[in-house]
Amino acid sequence: MKKLLFTLLAACSLTSAKADEGMWTLYNLPNAVYETMKQENFELPYNALYYGEDAVKNCVVNFGGFCSGVVVSPDGLVFTNHHCGFEAIRSHSTVEHDYMLNGFVANSYEEELPNKRLFVSFMVEQKDVTAYLDSLGLNKQAQNKRADFVDSVENALSKEIRQQDSTLRVELKPYYEGNQYYLTTYRDFEDVRLVFALPKSMGKFGGETDNWMWPRQTCDFSVFRIYVDPKTGGPAKYSKDNVPYHPKKWAPVSLQGYVPGSFSMTIGYPGSTSRYLSSYGIKERRDAQNEPMYKTRAVKQDIMIRHMRADEAVRIKYDSKYAQSSNYWKNSIGMNKCIDSIGLIQQKAQFEAKIRQWQDSTGFLKGQLDFDLLARLYAKQFKARRALTYFSESFGGRSSDELTRRALRANNGSVVKGDEKNPKKQYIEFKDNSAEWDGPTDREIMAAAMKFYREQVEPQYLPDFYQTVDSKFGGNYQQYIDYLYKKSQLMKSGKKIFINKKSFQKDPGVQFGQSLNNMMMTLYSEAVASYDSIAVQERYLCAAKLRMEEDMPNYSDANFTMRLSYGQVGEYLLAGKPSGYYTTAESIVEKMNRGEQGVIDYEAEPIMKELLSKKDFGKYTDKTTGKMHLCFLSNNDITGGNSGSPMFNGKGELIGLAFDGNWDSLSSDIFFDKQLARCIGVDIRYVLYMMETWGKADRLIKEIGAK
Ligand code: ARG
Repeated sequence: MKKLLFTLLAACSLTSAKADEGMWTLYNLPNAVYETMKQENFELPYNALYYGEDAVKNCVVNFGGFCSGVVVSPDGLVFTNHHCGFEAIRSHSTVEHDYMLNGFVANSYEEELPNKRLFVSFMVEQKDVTAYLDSLGLNKQAQNKRADFVDSVENALSKEIRQQDSTLRVELKPYYEGNQYYLTTYRDFEDVRLVFALPKSMGKFGGETDNWMWPRQTCDFSVFRIYVDPKTGGPAKYSKDNVPYHPKKWAPVSLQGYVPGSFSMTIGYPGSTSRYLSSYGIKERRDAQNEPMYKTRAVKQDIMIRHMRADEAVRIKYDSKYAQSSNYWKNSIGMNKCIDSIGLIQQKAQFEAKIRQWQDSTGFLKGQLDFDLLARLYAKQFKARRALTYFSESFGGRSSDELTRRALRANNGSVVKGDEKNPKKQYIEFKDNSAEWDGPTDREIMAAAMKFYREQVEPQYLPDFYQTVDSKFGGNYQQYIDYLYKKSQLMKSGKKIFINKKSFQKDPGVQFGQSLNNMMMTLYSEAVASYDSIAVQERYLCAAKLRMEEDMPNYSDANFTMRLSYGQVGEYLLAGKPSGYYTTAESIVEKMNRGEQGVIDYEAEPIMKELLSKKDFGKYTDKTTGKMHLCFLSNNDITGGNSGSPMFNGKGELIGLAFDGNWDSLSSDIFFDKQLARCIGVDIRYVLYMMETWGKADRLIKEIGAK
């Protein structure tokens, strides 16, 4: 009954946190939320989520600082998504042994593959330290000093905790737009090894065509194992002597499935949402961030994919770069569509008008929260903000070409090596990373990016290298780039490049980098000139909302800390028709047939089609529908970073791994649309079925011991 009331309220406005929306921190989960969870058939006691060694939170990990994962065995086996393990899988792949294409199965501990730079973290503890920071004087700090102030406190607390236990780390982060601060303690494990991966045809089935879409058949999982120091049983750097981790808590895996309305809970690490963002901020997101992002990425991706399709070695090099770029290319297109179709900016503006009235009547933050000022501040930085996105998408980031990356780094003091006191001996050096990029691909991307950037931004935002291109190369980007490749020392890997020689200042690659750097500074200073004042106003706006809705539980925006979301399994209306809440083996076979007719994203090995064409899937068959379920939908509230999050049933048993959101609700980072927003998960029975039949991974299946 109470549920119904909640739902009615929820349908009325975008103002309130409502049943099944929300990314809740666990240690202070509001009682009202827990009560709703119970009504929706959550069976565990309140304390089972966070408190004690056996708490559900203890089997959930932050995977690598970009995804989530779950421990599923007493020997430290971790499930995450295939797209989260993607870079690890790729980095072990060569044309000769291509784990990306062919998959990978370790048949013993010895065969499990270590990964440089990969770690998992467990959250040990979290607490509210707002009052403590206040007592230290946080609120007396100017906005532009706040972050430094918080950093310095974090550093001090870090030292303190390390002295108690050297395996611990703390993080001090703002919540509720900086109205509150929580301190979180983590334990990191750095020896994480690859155990199992399906061929990409299955792990990324549907590719970019199906990404962010429903219905879905992607078998988006990969398996890793945590290794520890044999003596302490705790975290250690990689060593061949390390042994599998024996955690106190792991997630029981359930073969029991679900029906529509079944309780479903995700726990994981959502990266970032902007649910409190003002209407002006949303407009900036749409026009100065999303649009420049997808437009620039489209230009680069077209070139990348053409080269990847022509050459397997290039494909391996760019697989991750492409997937990463295209993921948010498509997301930002979808998000902008939703912002407009839902009318989010207008809705938010109406809500702000309501806050304004309430402010007038109560006097809350009078003279401080100022909507006209907020509008002016956003307007002032708009052009530069937009140009900055074009700039960073064209010349920066992981998808940048290698020469541009090196040119920018050459001008970054922090990579200088050698004798600090002797300028003559200071140098920079680029390692041979030729396995990561391809000359012809990069050159073409670089030329296209230069051309595109110029077409998009106001002339005052053009770095001065464009003058060189015009005056010396007749406006021909390709010629300029060929010249850079030929003349610059930057592309000579392994060479010490002394930075205080004349030849350094004269190096055309270094000059190119300087030119980029100068423009970057200009853009930054213009784009963030109002940043602090905006942050203050957005913080006030959030505070006003929280106060106005005091009697409602409110969650803080995602900030890559652990969050719980509860809800149910269930479908939605997709273009006016019921979407269905699960997909079947038949549906993937159908798509595979289209793959055979040339739809690249639906191509898969004949063995996959064979395995999924079976009449009988035995214990992996769903008891309610009599079908083999591949992926399923819930209304859990997730976002990027949640990938690999466990989906639990009401008993806290694992029924799936969250891996995506649906096209119809891509603006949910800004506004959670209860009717439309869905979490797409891969059914754990599909995962185990593939491990057993394709992978013949009996040792792992036994270890997991699903019931
Ligand atoms: N959209 C999903 C996510 O953000 C999957 C991304 C990887 N897949 C892809 N086709 N690029 O978690």
